[in-house]
Amino acid sequence: MALPPGSFGLPLIGDTINFLQDAQFAKKRHQQYGPIFKSSIFGQPTVFMSGQEANLFVLSNDNQYFVATWPASTRALLGPLSLSLQTGANHQNRRKLLYQAFGPRALVGYVGAMENITQRYLDKWAKMETMTWYPELRNYTFDVAAKLLVGIDNGSETALGHNFETWCYGLFSIALDLPWTRFGKAKKGRKLLLAELENIIRDRQQGTPSGNDALSLLISARDDEGNSLSLDELKDQVLLLLFAGHDTLTSAIATFCLLLAQNPDVMAKVRAEQQQFPATEPLTLEQLKQMTYLEQVMREVLRLVPPVAVIFRTAINACEFGGYEIPKGWSVLSGITQTHQDSQLYPEPDRFDPERFSSERSAKPFSYVPFGGGLRECLGKEFARLEMKLFAAKIVRELEWELLPDQDLNLIAVPTPRPRDGLRVKFRRTT
Ligand code: HEM
Repeated sequence: MALPPGSFGLPLIGDTINFLQDAQFAKKRHQQYGPIFKSSIFGQPTVFMSGQEANLFVLSNDNQYFVATWPASTRALLGPLSLSLQTGANHQNRRKLLYQAFGPRALVGYVGAMENITQRYLDKWAKMETMTWYPELRNYTFDVAAKLLVGIDNGSETALGHNFETWCYGLFSIALDLPWTRFGKAKKGRKLLLAELENIIRDRQQGTPSGNDALSLLISARDDEGNSLSLDELKDQVLLLLFAGHDTLTSAIATFCLLLAQNPDVMAKVRAEQQQFPATEPLTLEQLKQMTYLEQVMREVLRLVPPVAVIFRTAINACEFGGYEIPKGWSVLSGITQTHQDSQLYPEPDRFDPERFSSERSAKPFSYVPFGGGLRECLGKEFARLEMKLFAAKIVRELEWELLPDQDLNLIAVPTPRPRDGLRVKFRRTT
């Protein structure tokens, strides 16, 4: 059987630089070679594919043909016990345990704190009038994560927040551990973060009262054999959770803000829907569920600009897809963004059109995959959807925003999509 068409690019670095820098990398090669092609990135021969069938194949064959894979820098910085580095039965066991902090009951306990933090930021922005929004949105999502995961207030202003930034900066870098490299600094950041998390966990274990946060749920969580998480594992898992939800949610919320500013008709409809709900009461999960137009908007935001662009795997066994061979040991990459751009699935795919989700017609499985799917589907999916919706409902009720002129709104693609100039806006309180 033939290998997929395509080219491995330059010696050693292959196509890594093009892949990281060119947002159209996959689209261009798709046009040149067809929907399945080979390349070489991060030093590995890699098969690119996309579309509903490719997602179905890759995401429903975890552990059979594929395992999740990360660059060396990410593996070292996430730590050996991180859920992301587990596979097979061990992965499923840990996932089940961690889900205790992300199931429906846990979410009910998170709404109040999420709403308070959102309100604090809205009041602050209303006074600032103009600003570059993206860095603020990053602080906002970190504050929510720090409070709801480990019970820390104003997380972005604390040592935890600063060390986290240094750590994040090295996640996708060359794994050279020297004091002046990105990776070296991030490794130091990891040590400091773990020390801090250890203090927080020990305080908790000694009975310091906690609010409703994921850490308290994880400390008391047990697996099927009745075992709890060790201190070392708690630290690695909490660090993963801080990471997994931060850039992704920031990107999703920023895209919502951008697209609504660019589509006043959608903004007007979202606002009209909000007016059907009492303005003063705290928001409830029940009310959020009733916001069906906002739900469509959120779905369309994640279709058009999915924060995670691709699913990355390594083939642990040779297999075949679409008439081509995928050799054992090669990397496999299934495109989320590319799938969402398939005009067979989504007519006029470049258009922002929340109406495409208005009917309950059942989409083919794995054709809408912003949160991945199968055994490794996003663990924080409902948490993310809750935060996006709560943020959106509240901001639309309280603020109007417009884009300032003369800014580059093109999206930087890696690690998650964000407007090049950071989204510069002007605010006004709604009247
Ligand atoms: C996994 C997307 C928010 C925790 C994933 C995957 C995707 C994804 C596509 C699958 C990766 C793969 O199969 O290789 C997103 C998006 C988010 C978001 C688009 C926001 C809009 C969150 C949040 C949390 C979270 C808020 C937790 C606080 C995780 C974890 C995994 C994961 C722990 C790994 C699951 C596993 O390996 O079993 N996410 N995510 N995510 N996500 Fe999210």
